[in-house]
Amino acid sequence: MAPRKLAAGNWKMNGDLAALAEIDALVAAHPAPGCEVLVCPPAVLLHPMKARAGTVIALGGQDCHANPSGAHTGDIAAAQLKDVGAAYVILGHSERRADHGETDAAVAAKAAAAHAAGLTAIICVGETEAQRDAGETLAVIAAQLDGSIPARATAANTVIAYEPVWAIGTGRTPTNDQIAEVHGLMRDCLADKVGDAAAVRLLYGGSVKPGNAAEIFAIPHVDGALVGGASLKAADFGAIIAALETA
Ligand code: PGA
Repeated sequence: MAPRKLAAGNWKMNGDLAALAEIDALVAAHPAPGCEVLVCPPAVLLHPMKARAGTVIALGGQDCHANPSGAHTGDIAAAQLKDVGAAYVILGHSERRADHGETDAAVAAKAAAAHAAGLTAIICVGETEAQRDAGETLAVIAAQLDGSIPARATAANTVIAYEPVWAIGTGRTPTNDQIAEVHGLMRDCLADKVGDAAAVRLLYGGSVKPGNAAEIFAIPHVDGALVGGASLKAADFGAIIAALETA
């Protein structure tokens, strides 16, 4: 069976209680979406958002600690995300790799913790513009996948997001051929790491908008999107969901 397509929104450090009205609008416009819909808000919004999202929209965190509990001031455990309604957690986003020095090994440890807590890990990979210009993209992605995916990853507990660093928040996107090349490579790499590799959902992320979503969703091995800026407004995210429903 083909994997269920996934439209995932990453609110990053945006949004407040008033912004939950966008979730109400999304639920009203898409009460029975034809793809899986996920929103990953700042952790403080997870619990109140759950009451508004119900079972229509799944929720996720944007990071978790590798340990299940303990003296880690400011961090959040995977089980705590799950406790307040999360089913997913984004891990290894390029902003965390850059801002917090997260290595592939750290991402793999966090993903193992997410799996142990019953969360699905969305593991992010992506090349910088300098790496693409140097012709290193495929090697960079292969190495990130190899280092960031923990043992016991399955199609049920792991999603991979390809997010070129230079495409995030810039309005620039790779060509369709460039996305197809990386997604094809990721599918091949997963075969060595995950038993049911063909069923692992592969998301594209980086400047996905209502205007380019349908084109991106038509690319082979693209099973959905990880959407930043355009996920903050129900109208924009709703248009991307609609494009995925009909892809
Ligand atoms: P963007 O962000 O859609 O605003 O480019 C994507 C992401 O960082 O997940």
